[in-house]
Amino acid sequence: MSDVVKFEKRGHIGVIGVDNPPVNALGQAVRQGLIETLAKALADTDVQAIVLIGKGRTFVAGADISEFGKPPKEPGFAEVLDALDASTKPVVAALHGTALGGGLELALGCNYRVAVKEAKCGLPEVKLGILPGAGGTQRLPRLIGVPKALEMIVSGDPINATQARAVGLLDEIVEGDLLEGALTFAARVAEQRPLPRVRDLTANVDKTKVDPAVFTKAAKDAAARARGGQAPLRCVEAVKAAVELPFDAGLKRERELFEEAMKSTESAALRHVFFAERTAAKIPDIAADTPTLLIRKVAILGAGTMGGGIAMVFANAGIQVVLVDREQALVDKGLGIIAKNYAATVSKGKLAQPEMDARVGRISGEIDWNNLGDVDLVIEAVFEEMGLKKEIFGKLDRICKKDAILATNTSTLDVNEIAQSTSRPEQVIGLHFFSPANVMRLLEIVRGKATSKTVLATCLKLSKTIGKVGVVVGVCNGFVGNRMLHTYFREAQLLIQDGALPAQVDGVITRFGFAMGPCATSDLAGLDVGWRIRKGLPKPPPGVRDSGAVGDKLAEMGRFGQKTGAGFYKYEPGSRTPVPDPVVEEVIEGVSKELGIERRAISDDEIFERCLYSMINEGAKILDEGIALRASDIDTVWINGYGFPPHRGGPMFYADTVGLPRIYAKLQEFAAKYGKVWEPSALLARLAKDNQTFASLDGKKA
Ligand code: 3HC
Ligand code: NAI
Repeated sequence: MSDVVKFEKRGHIGVIGVDNPPVNALGQAVRQGLIETLAKALADTDVQAIVLIGKGRTFVAGADISEFGKPPKEPGFAEVLDALDASTKPVVAALHGTALGGGLELALGCNYRVAVKEAKCGLPEVKLGILPGAGGTQRLPRLIGVPKALEMIVSGDPINATQARAVGLLDEIVEGDLLEGALTFAARVAEQRPLPRVRDLTANVDKTKVDPAVFTKAAKDAAARARGGQAPLRCVEAVKAAVELPFDAGLKRERELFEEAMKSTESAALRHVFFAERTAAKIPDIAADTPTLLIRKVAILGAGTMGGGIAMVFANAGIQVVLVDREQALVDKGLGIIAKNYAATVSKGKLAQPEMDARVGRISGEIDWNNLGDVDLVIEAVFEEMGLKKEIFGKLDRICKKDAILATNTSTLDVNEIAQSTSRPEQVIGLHFFSPANVMRLLEIVRGKATSKTVLATCLKLSKTIGKVGVVVGVCNGFVGNRMLHTYFREAQLLIQDGALPAQVDGVITRFGFAMGPCATSDLAGLDVGWRIRKGLPKPPPGVRDSGAVGDKLAEMGRFGQKTGAGFYKYEPGSRTPVPDPVVEEVIEGVSKELGIERRAISDDEIFERCLYSMINEGAKILDEGIALRASDIDTVWINGYGFPPHRGGPMFYADTVGLPRIYAKLQEFAAKYGKVWEPSALLARLAKDNQTFASLDGKKA
């Protein structure tokens, strides 16, 4: 009998239990086990009905993604579903945790579905660049109707059990113990014939009743959202087949689309993203059982932009927060903004008022530092000044309890130097949140020279608790994300000085799949920020180009970006849509002239290569210096913090798909034309020479 699929009898009900931790993925052994146990239950004359349930934390969470891209192993999942379709006894799927992808398809192949109210159901395949490939696109519309099925399949977002019951995906929500509830349900339906099969339902997919416009609209919306990704469009095609074709022909069409998708670079990229995010949580010298500290109460220093957002992150996760600033008025201002932000979420219907009250209730204000003695973690988010930060860490060292973690949200300063202002550098770490902190998923966890393993392990665990993707990085100016951003934005600006215009540069980048180009992003962040910083700095030395020249000129004119209605673009009042502005063109031409640059036509290819390859080269340097542990960590940073299109896999994965020899050749060409900043990283040069990939460093083939 199978190790991963168990069979037992409870009275006249046969119970098939999938036991394949951690998420009961449908690997080969599970598929085999399901076929065997089902046959056993059908052969047993004592068994009148069957319950299919998942052991451990969840029902089946999908196909085994690690089997994708490898030669298929028999039996296929289709054989399991055929066996369910052929069952002569009712099969009841009992769901808890996450019934996702193949897991939900398995449940759809059963005659009935019951679930606990905490269960979630979804078909997230689109997020892996594929589509449901085991009947999901054919059965779900038959069961719950085309519009709702389209929404679930194209978005990939799960629904909760209450919603699933409302749309007819579930037959019952079980109160109390799931197995007991499912057994009772199974006993109740044991005699009912004919057995209801989702494949036999026709009303919801009746060609004469389904408005074909739903598919046109879904395809249009999907194309707009996917930014070049093909998977959502394939999902629409497959659901359309459920209406246009009989069930078996629809299955065949779904299979064709699935296989096409599985072979795509888009799917390889998205699978890479899935595993990269999870690998980032594993640090070679930190054992999984490293002890961690309990974080129940957090102090945030600085009630400004970042402090307020970070406070919300912890309050949302149920953790007590004390928000600290210099004066009561500043604390009150910060608390006021937080309350306003929550109220806006409530008014959009995304948060219930009692939950908002609970969250607001978890955040208190404070100006007396002596009251911070009992906090488990402090996150400093005051002005970006080394002197101030050192003074603050010295003070925290005197006030906070011995094992409190002292973290800084600095985006540029040396975490090791800050740590030295305390008597406990092992308790000091960087926790670099991204703005807006309550929205952006990325958290760069900056490991200082002295940071202890316990502190690091605690912060990694904490990142998950607060819903962030934590990536451990080393200390350097800009860490991983901002350091690469700097080279990318530099090239965007130099291209403008050389002859391109903001709309051309941004167009190239958005067509690649970013939501915004570098100029529109600068307008959003505010041109005044960099301008103020640069005002205090000496001009670049001879031979180094001044990439801030255009932005500074615009800022001097009071064009700070979106907040003043004008920057690299102009904005109609109340609008965030960038509109090209002839005034900016004049400014740019003026700057080029001042700098002695003869403007020329710049090709889209040059824009693309200078923006992306500069970023990739910097990524390679970061990897070589050990600031990032793996190429895939860099990809995780860029996808979760900077809007890199997930279906491209991140900058390093993308570089592998282009081929490092080709990128290396371009870097050399640019180095000859534009100087030292383009010198290829030694690591990239070595990999290119060996015709290798960044993925090869992580022990994988691209
Ligand atoms: N296949 C293989 N491994 C999987 C997996 C899957 N479907 N789902 C999760 N895992 C692994 C993870 O890689 C991780 O491994 P690790 O511990 O070695 O890093 C482990 O299971 C635990 O996963 P998480 O850390 O993500 O655990 P969470 O509790 O945070 O989340 C989850 C659980 C919601 C199930 C989440 O893992 C998830 O979303 N998984 C993917 C679900 C999915 O996409 N299913 C569809 C697959 S495609 C499919 O079914 C095709 C079909 O149509 C034919
Ligand atoms: P901010 O100017 O909005 O807020 C700083 C707050 O710190 C102010 O409310 C100020 O009164 C308070 N403060 C100053 N000195 C203090 C002291 N001695 N004690 C208590 N409070 C004090 O700044 P912002 O943007 O929130 O940045 C804070 C930190 O976060 C900086 O280190 C910055 O580099 C970093 N950061 C900023 C990001 C951004 O996009 N704004 C992104 C990531 C990091």
